[in-house]
Parts: sequence; C-alpha cells; structure tokens
Amino acid sequence: MPPHATILLSRSDVQKLLSMEAAIAAVEAAFAAHGEGRALMPPKVYLELDAYHGDLRAMPAYVDGAAGVKWVNSHPENPARFDLPSVMGMYILSDPATALPLAVMDATLLTAVRTGAAAAIASKHLAARAPRTVGFVGCGVQARTLLEAHRAVYGDTFEVLCADVSEHAARVFAEEARGRVVSLEEASGADVVNASTPARAPVVKRAWVKDGAHVNAIGADAHGKQELDPAILVDGRVVIDDWEQATHSGEVNVPLETGELRREQIHATLGEVLAGKRPGREGARITVFDSTGLAVQDVALARVVHAAAREQGLGTSFDFFR
Ligand SMILES: NC(=O)c1ccc[n+]([C@@H]2O[C@H](COP(=O)([O-])OP(=O)(O)OC[C@H]3O[C@@H](n4cnc5c(N)ncnc54)[C@H](O)[C@@H]3O)[C@@H](O)[C@H]2O)c1
Repeated sequence: MPPHATILLSRSDVQKLLSMEAAIAAVEAAFAAHGEGRALMPPKVYLELDAYHGDLRAMPAYVDGAAGVKWVNSHPENPARFDLPSVMGMYILSDPATALPLAVMDATLLTAVRTGAAAAIASKHLAARAPRTVGFVGCGVQARTLLEAHRAVYGDTFEVLCADVSEHAARVFAEEARGRVVSLEEASGADVVNASTPARAPVVKRAWVKDGAHVNAIGADAHGKQELDPAILVDGRVVIDDWEQATHSGEVNVPLETGELRREQIHATLGEVLAGKRPGREGARITVFDSTGLAVQDVALARVVHAAAREQGLGTSFDFFR
C-alpha cells in the first residue's frame, strides 16, 4: 500500500469486518474512557437544512489514540422522494499524530451497531439479572442491532417480544428474531425493554413497566422526542450517556423542560458507572438508560474496523494527496 494511502471501505466491507462482540468490547472501553474524563468529545454540530427538510451533523471525537469525525444526516423524506435512505453516514478516521486520513468508511451500519452495543452494555451493567424476556417497542432498523447485541451479551436465552404501531413491522421482526408479536403493553412489561421509535409523545406507560425492569430509551435523540411516561424516570434510576447531549435531545429533554423531572434526579452517566465512580443498579426499582449516541462510540468502532481492514487486506487504497 502507498505510504499516504487511505483505505476506502463500503458498507459491505464494514459488515464483513465488524463483529458485535468486538463492537461491544470497543464501545464499553470508550464509555469508560468518557466516564474517566480521558476522551475528547466536543458537542455535535448541527447544520439545519430546513429548506431541504433535513439536517447534517458533525461528530468529532478522540479516545485512546484514535481520532475521527462522523458526518451524518437525517432526511426523513429521502426514501419516498429520492429512493435514498433517510440516514447516511460517512466516517473519517485520522491518525492523531499526523492527521493523515487512515480510512474513509460507510458509517450507517457503524451507527446502528454502536447503538445496539451501547444498550446491551447498559443492560449488562444495570439490569437486575439476565433477562428471561426482552421487549422491543419499535421494530425497525435499530431493533435488529439491539437484539444482536443483547444476544451477544446474554446468549440466545431470552424470549423476544415484538411490538410496533405497524403490525407488519412487528411481524417481520418477530419472524426474523424467532420472537412473538405482542401488544405495546406486553413488550413494555419485559425484564429488559428496548424502546426505539421516533415518537414525540410517551409510548411506554408507567403502569406497564414492572419493578425489577431495565429500560433502554434509544429513540429520543433530538429535541422534543420522547418515548417514556415521565413517571418511569421519576420512579426509576436514570443513567444518561452524556449530560450535554441527553439534556438537550435525549429521553430526559422533554420532562426536564416541563419540570416533570429535575436534573438532580438524574443518577449518573453510563461512563461514570463503568468507571466505578457511581453505583449501578443497587437498590433501584427500575433502571433507565437514556441514549443519544456519542461520538466516542463511533471513533472506537471505526478504529476496530480500520485495524481489521488492514489485517485482512480489505478495502480500496486511495491516495488523496498524490
Ligand atoms: N440513541 C441513539 O444513539 C440512536 C441511534 C440511531 C437511531 N436512533 C433513533 O432511534 C429511533 C428508531 O430508529 P430506527 O432507525 O430503528 O427507525 P425505523 O424507522 O427503522 O424504526 C422505527 C419503528 O418504530 C415504529 N414506531 C413509530 N412510532 C411508534 C409508536 N408510537 N409506537 C410503536 N412503534 C412506533 C415504526 O413503525 C418503525 O417500525 C429514531 O428515533 C432514531 O432517531 C437513536
């Protein structure tokens, strides 16, 4: 390979190079570094493109010798109007010593995998015990990697309960997952609940969530989004991924604004729990992980993908500076 070559990696390359087990290990280490204050992660930058009904976001981070930036969008009308996905991500992984771009890769799959991994890590550290049932409220793209990550942590040992406003989505996912289509109420009553809908009003009711449960609130990742009855947060122990991001755009953003939840009621970040700075579940009735998606998760995975690409000789070498 030429000395200044960058490796270009397509989505199918990334798929071949990234295992969920490796992803979970990398993301767990990245959260711990974030909790210990060893990572660099300036806030996400949003480019609001109102005229185009979409936005672009830049997510830079440095952790444990890896630096990079994700350039990702949200254009909900893309599938219907342009036959393009609503979310497309690119990752640039740079050598922190020289800034040489080591790799440019598809980050769409990377995003889904790192999000599933984060939730399963939260379940591992916050759930009362290995779940007998895992409920999926929302059976879309994220549900797939949430399931894969939970199976990587617990094995194929739990029943999969699938609920969605779209019966079709729930049925297709249940078939794929060898699970059961259930009501939103039944999925919300599981030992571990994964909520991954784009909802802007509570979907999961307090009365449906049992004592002893752990809930991963994945869907709310922008201002105004909300999936859980705020009473679940008040009665539960809330662990966020990052103060700045979660209070602005996570599950806690709406109840903090309405006064239904106070900042003091937020227990810790997941990184602080992993770093041993704050307790995890001990004594909590319900635990909730509020995920917005951190740039440190992306850079940790991009590094794993790049290392695997070099080892296996996969990808296309390109010299941007010749
Ligand atoms: N926290 C993170 O890091 C992170 C990362 C990626 C995506 N997300 C968010 O997760 C959410 C889901 O993403 P996705 O890619 O899986 O989307 P998707 O469109 O593939 O799936 C969403 C599913 O939710 C269902 N749904 C919509 N409203 C519902 C409701 N009120 N009740 C039950 N089901 C409902 C839809 O029918 C669909 O099947 C989005 O809000 C996305 O922005 C968060």
